[in-house]
Amino acid sequence: MMDRSQVIDACGRYWNPTAATFFHVTHRTIESHAEGCTVVDEEGRRYLDFACSYGVFVIGHCNPYVRRRVLEQMDRLASAPFGVANPVAAELMEVVTDMLPGGLNRVFFANSGAESSEMALRAALACNAPRRKVIAAINSYHGKTLGALNILGQQGHRSPFLPLMAEVEFVPYGDIEAMRRAVGDGVAAVFLEPILGGPFITVPPPGYLKEVESLCRRTQSLLVVDEVQTGFGRAGKMFAIEYDGVEPDIMLLSKGITGGHAAIALAVMQDSVVERLERIEGLPPRYLSSDSGGSPYACAAALASIEFIRDNQLPERAAFLGQRLRSGLERMARKYPKLILDVPGTGLMTGLRVRNPAVETAITMALGKRGVHVGHSMNETAPHPVLRFYPPLTVTEAEIDQSLEALEQALEGLGRIPGRVYDLLDVIVRRQYRIPRKWLLRLSGVKDGHAQAHA
Ligand SMILES: Cc1ncc(COP(=O)(O)O)c(C=O)c1O
Repeated sequence: MMDRSQVIDACGRYWNPTAATFFHVTHRTIESHAEGCTVVDEEGRRYLDFACSYGVFVIGHCNPYVRRRVLEQMDRLASAPFGVANPVAAELMEVVTDMLPGGLNRVFFANSGAESSEMALRAALACNAPRRKVIAAINSYHGKTLGALNILGQQGHRSPFLPLMAEVEFVPYGDIEAMRRAVGDGVAAVFLEPILGGPFITVPPPGYLKEVESLCRRTQSLLVVDEVQTGFGRAGKMFAIEYDGVEPDIMLLSKGITGGHAAIALAVMQDSVVERLERIEGLPPRYLSSDSGGSPYACAAALASIEFIRDNQLPERAAFLGQRLRSGLERMARKYPKLILDVPGTGLMTGLRVRNPAVETAITMALGKRGVHVGHSMNETAPHPVLRFYPPLTVTEAEIDQSLEALEQALEGLGRIPGRVYDLLDVIVRRQYRIPRKWLLRLSGVKDGHAQAHA
């Protein structure tokens, strides 16, 4: 097995040299194994995982119940091409559609959230042809494949691939007047996260989604709700659409559905949407399928995870424990207003909105030293990013208190540094990809032989 330096060097050689340099510079540890809320590194150090791959591990790492069910399925039939009816996929479709409101009865399997966004986009454009206009939110995230990029509201991700679809309009999240103006007499579809995620966490005003739903009904535009991150309990309800009682035309699910035990995503559509698709000549709905989407072992992982989430009432747990976590974070925000602007979110979908990305990095590193992993912005750029605190929904009260204690200790040191130092550091952080590797290694005092050899 490769040791830490070899792993990081391999990342540099075969993937991303800048990232590898930063792994060296920040003394990044390598995950060896994980269990529940804890990740263990290659030297046996234990970390509380409050990052959870941005919300994936809702039922904790290597959940024994899900693991057993997946292994049993692997022993029977791991994989089967789509179109071969398999009992676990059939059962999963039944379970999921029973959990969702009204006519959300038709299931299309994919392997990632991005792929499910693509399916929804294709379905919406086909269904509502000749309409081409689509509305999405500024700063939204729906995945990074080329189709999904059309509706991804973060300019940085899109600009290298322009021109994309011309008829997409981005509106400020949560602003119903802006939505009303954009939808006008009707568009093909409106794509929305029920709570804006990423480093922009924003809970919309109560009633916002309901009003968007009525607007869509009035104009016969399709409402696509992306619950890839919020679904299966993180925001304190099984699905975040429950807050406003909306019934989308298409709903996207992934991440929490297997708690990270297998890759799967679902685009669940209203009967009426699929009936319209079925009437389109030359577009049988099977064109919206993916060969390995809905493989038996991934479906087994989803069925077992859903069972675990329900049996252990994890959404209710997220709502209850979220209050404890957020009130601790809010206490820190009051104590360190220079560093922390506010604590957005709901349930266990929360974090610290900070002064700038340098503060986000400083807190992440200080917490890492104290044995807590948090969700630092990697791909996105926000002027005041939210450093995400996304523990598994199985987290205990003691683990929440432990993370808050580590945060308090970290902030004690960081709070003594003048704000303008963070502003200066921020300029450096923004230019990190342009700083020569040799300087970074020298500045950080990394003596690592492998790193030096490749510098
Ligand atoms: C709301 C939302 N939609 C879509 C995606 C894309 O999912 P994937 O990374 O599986 O393509 C994500 C991923 O973070 C997400 O948070």
